[in-house]
Amino acid sequence: MHRTDSLDRFMADVRAGLRASPKRLSPEYFYDALGSRLFEAICQLPWYPLTRAERALLERHAEEMVAPFGEGASIVELGCGSGEKLALLAAPLCKRLPRLDVHLVDVSETALDLSRRTLSRLPRVEVSAHRARYEEGLCAATARRLPGADGVRGGGGGPVLVLFLGSNIGNLDPDAAAAFLADVRASLRAGDALLLGADLVKPAAELLLAYDDPLGVTAAFNKNLLSRINRELGAAIDLRSFDHRAVWNAERARVEMHLVSRRRQVIRVSAIDLEVAFEEGESIWTESSHKYEPGEVVHMGERAGFRCDRQWIEEAGRFSTTLLIAEERAARR
Ligand code: AVI
Repeated sequence: MHRTDSLDRFMADVRAGLRASPKRLSPEYFYDALGSRLFEAICQLPWYPLTRAERALLERHAEEMVAPFGEGASIVELGCGSGEKLALLAAPLCKRLPRLDVHLVDVSETALDLSRRTLSRLPRVEVSAHRARYEEGLCAATARRLPGADGVRGGGGGPVLVLFLGSNIGNLDPDAAAAFLADVRASLRAGDALLLGADLVKPAAELLLAYDDPLGVTAAFNKNLLSRINRELGAAIDLRSFDHRAVWNAERARVEMHLVSRRRQVIRVSAIDLEVAFEEGESIWTESSHKYEPGEVVHMGERAGFRCDRQWIEEAGRFSTTLLIAEERAARR
């Protein structure tokens, strides 16, 4: 995607989101250069166990997770981050295979560079980087394959293992998550696989601490969205006039993040010629982070046309990694 396309989309989404009721902005816009660094910092916070719990699972079980994949296998990571988790999974494969094709898909050039560097430590790995959103990147990564038995495009060789880690699935609403998994299944052949990382339901106090940490890093991550609107869209929003708030919605099993206006005010976004009024206490909903029971992850996969091969749960029960194998026929949407 070209920069102007992404700027156009940002402008259109900010306009629609700030005019909506309740007001909202998409979490995909958190990740500019500063936001990506703030997210890396969040992952190191003692109050945000998600990344460490997933890493512990991968460190311990990487070999079992990739055991079903043999010669000709390739890996596609959607949202590659730093590439560290991918490297844990690729390492046992490149020990026993003559060559491993790895496709990195991310909208961030920084993430693609970091991952390329991380993977350069491993022998016999051929890396292709796709600067794209998930669905486009997956299509580009599988496009070179010849038509498979079920008529779906795929590679000339063996099975494709798609990685969707870090509980990125949790930032999609249930309908969007179902649609996303069905799209992934539709780009795959029977026998290809999806390794899905999903954060699990925990006590509310732990979750709130994870999303409203005492150092204020998550608050900065959330408020950077306003700062990005100031920088990129010529607004002059006073960041001190908004508070970060995290709420656990037990009924929907999700942590919701908001930016709450501390006072009655009007903000102006000059690049899109927009004026928006806020009441005191009115919020912009910026993110939902869904938490799951292990069985729900399996059901989500099954509804999209996968079967669960195996699921690993972190020792303290905080995180799940599920290996889903594409069934003969993709689920109908
Ligand atoms: C990327 N994503 C899975 C993170 C999450 O936990 O929902 C983003 C995040 N938001 C606040 N802290 C971290």
